[in-house]
Amino acid sequence: MRLISIFDLSLAEIEAIIEKGEELKSERKEGVKAKYLEGKTLALIFEKPSTRTRVSFEVAMQELGGNVISLNWNELQLGRGERIRETAIVLSSYVDAVMIRAYRHDTVEEFAKYASIPVINGLTDLEHPCQTLADLMTIRAYKKKFAGVKVAWVGDGNNVCNSLIGGAAITGMNMSVACPEGYEPDEEMVEKAKEMGCEVEISEKTEEAAVDADVLYTDVWVSMGEEGENEKRKNDLKIYQLNEDLVRVAKEDVIIMHCMPVHIGEEITEEVMNSDNSVIFEQAENRLHAQKALLLKLLRY
Ligand code: CP
Ligand code: NVA
Repeated sequence: MRLISIFDLSLAEIEAIIEKGEELKSERKEGVKAKYLEGKTLALIFEKPSTRTRVSFEVAMQELGGNVISLNWNELQLGRGERIRETAIVLSSYVDAVMIRAYRHDTVEEFAKYASIPVINGLTDLEHPCQTLADLMTIRAYKKKFAGVKVAWVGDGNNVCNSLIGGAAITGMNMSVACPEGYEPDEEMVEKAKEMGCEVEISEKTEEAAVDADVLYTDVWVSMGEEGENEKRKNDLKIYQLNEDLVRVAKEDVIIMHCMPVHIGEEITEEVMNSDNSVIFEQAENRLHAQKALLLKLLRY
């Protein structure tokens, strides 16, 4: 079992993860932390920075009674040119699972190909499936269902958007993406979602996407690894901002989502981020609970 793409999970598996995540969330609030993963070790490998993914996976393993080793790419021999395949084989003989955050999606796929243990994608240029699990858990908590929920994405059709489209397709939600030409989500991910019956509308008009939305979601204009195009991207995306004008055209009970980190005044305004409709911090918290449920699925059952 591996989680490289959100499409690796079925609806039943996602529902089970959400259910377990909610259970673990309630237990934690009551101070209960069952040590389900005693004796298990998870390695985290980071080729890019991280706050939420790193800390939530570390705390998840610790609270579940397991061990965790966090490694930066450059402190491994990978940074000196050792191949991914040998690293995957060797680490498989030491630890029980590996999470990797890498620039290229191929890197994680290559690792999973040679590893004999579960491999988790902790974000690549193509996908961020762990984020989608927390997003789906959050949407379900507020909307009480998935079928027919309209998710509007405003901004760069990036890795987070790609996995969310996959998540929408698996759970029966509809996606409306507003982005400038050249910033569309991955074509293959969109095709796959459409083949599963998901309505994925892509336009350049923010209001068109946001109208009657149940969920309004945005992410940074410059993802990690794209800093070289900083000025161009900010200029191309400047009207794709999640602001109060856009919130007004969505449903009254719309929830505002963002995977974080946020760049206030760019893709989202301070007012919207801190409005009553915003669930951004709970969404970030849910990374911990959803990933605990994922780890139990991968390492215990
Ligand atoms: N959302 C998310 O993955 O955040 P980090 O980059 O801080 O891990
Ligand atoms: N799209 C962003 C998400 C960060 C969690 C990035 O890849 O940098």
